[in-house]
Amino acid sequence: STWEVPNSNGDTMAPLVEAATHLRESDIPVAFPTETVYGLGADATRSAAVKGIYAAKGRPSDNPLIVHVCDLTMLRRFLSTTTVDGEDYDPIPAIYRPLIKRFWPGPLTILLPLPPPKEESERRLAPEVTAGLETFGCRMPASPLARTLIKLAGAPLAAPSANASTKPSPTTAQHVLDDLDGRIELILDGGSCQVGVESTVVDGLCDPPVVLRPGGISIEELRGCGGRWENVEKAYKDQAETGGKNAPRAPGMKYKHYSPKARVVLYESGQGILAENDLRQALLQLVEKKEGKTVAVIRTMKWPVAAGLKTSSGLVAQDSSTTTNGNSSGDAQSPPPFIVREGLLLLGHRERSSGITARLLDVGLGQDVKAVAHGLFAALRELDRQGADVIFVEGVSDGDDIAAAVMNRLRKAASDIRV
Ligand code: TXA
Ligand code: MG
Repeated sequence: STWEVPNSNGDTMAPLVEAATHLRESDIPVAFPTETVYGLGADATRSAAVKGIYAAKGRPSDNPLIVHVCDLTMLRRFLSTTTVDGEDYDPIPAIYRPLIKRFWPGPLTILLPLPPPKEESERRLAPEVTAGLETFGCRMPASPLARTLIKLAGAPLAAPSANASTKPSPTTAQHVLDDLDGRIELILDGGSCQVGVESTVVDGLCDPPVVLRPGGISIEELRGCGGRWENVEKAYKDQAETGGKNAPRAPGMKYKHYSPKARVVLYESGQGILAENDLRQALLQLVEKKEGKTVAVIRTMKWPVAAGLKTSSGLVAQDSSTTTNGNSSGDAQSPPPFIVREGLLLLGHRERSSGITARLLDVGLGQDVKAVAHGLFAALRELDRQGADVIFVEGVSDGDDIAAAVMNRLRKAASDIRV
């Protein structure tokens, strides 16, 4: 249960050592990769450093931060009033032990009671981390880079996602740079994040236990832990549910989060919803409202569909052979999450004679929901970068798997949901 820093040469270790020193000495946070998304880290025991996170992200300190530990030894030391070495007392609540056993290190955050006051000499959680709550969220990331950094820093790291507030979470170092250039001094580049959506946040201190945020570990997997976890409930609300199933959500109700600059239109039911006819209708509306002429499509089902095909509705997407590798880090170990195909979107005869055309950016994330999660935030960012005015997204069926996390983020990003 103690993380050993892997044996590696100085070249690999030097940036980590530098980042750890920075975390100990500076009040400017350090961005680092985890298996979910990039985090913006600071020593969780130093108030000035934690305040630096909020300053860099440009958001008010009303949202509690997740505390990242490298191993159970670090967590137990932090929770316990007494030394735990050689004793059988475990300060980690029993309810969490099966979860920790199965999912740590990994994309699961658990709520823990704030440790009781310690001796003056001992370091405690900075109050800015918990935003006044009696509990704190804690996780052990799977990324060896992240855990080595925490170990070298010698303190738990408080870290929110390393995006500017309201933007999609960053899944590459380039995304962090795009948002926080000039606000931070150091980004550890670990390539693109494997999971691509944030950790699942659970509260096991209440009965039944609840999921506060769907994420990398599914409700299905939590239930599999048995005991009280068999009855775990959802304690988050998605806007599609609150708005009533058949009423399309009114634009303007937008809860700004995970938002690219482009307007996001989500087709809840997935499955071929992006029939050419829908696209054609939508495009005509756009042109009428002068909203712009670059239309993007994120497909989660079959792909490519439109490119180069003439369809019954007369819509043609010509493949202009411009493809963009969505993985800007160029890391050979992480396969590109998607490519963007660019084409010219031509409409039926009538519209064509009135001169209406538009640029089409066509992204396929794949049919495997894990691949969709992995590429989702990067795709939203890439389409922004390429100047999309509107992004049509196909939903995935919202089951008890990671699809719940994908749909939760998409509903927050969308200003328009069609069922
Ligand atoms: O995957 C992740 O969790 C990423 C990486 C960097 O670890 N971090 C992340 O942090 O997503 P952030 O700050 O963007 O989201 C933290 C979430 C929020 O939904 C917050 O409300 C919840 O965790 N949270 C943290 N502490 C909490 C507490 N004591 N009670 C209730 N919710 C809490
Ligand atoms: Mg976040």
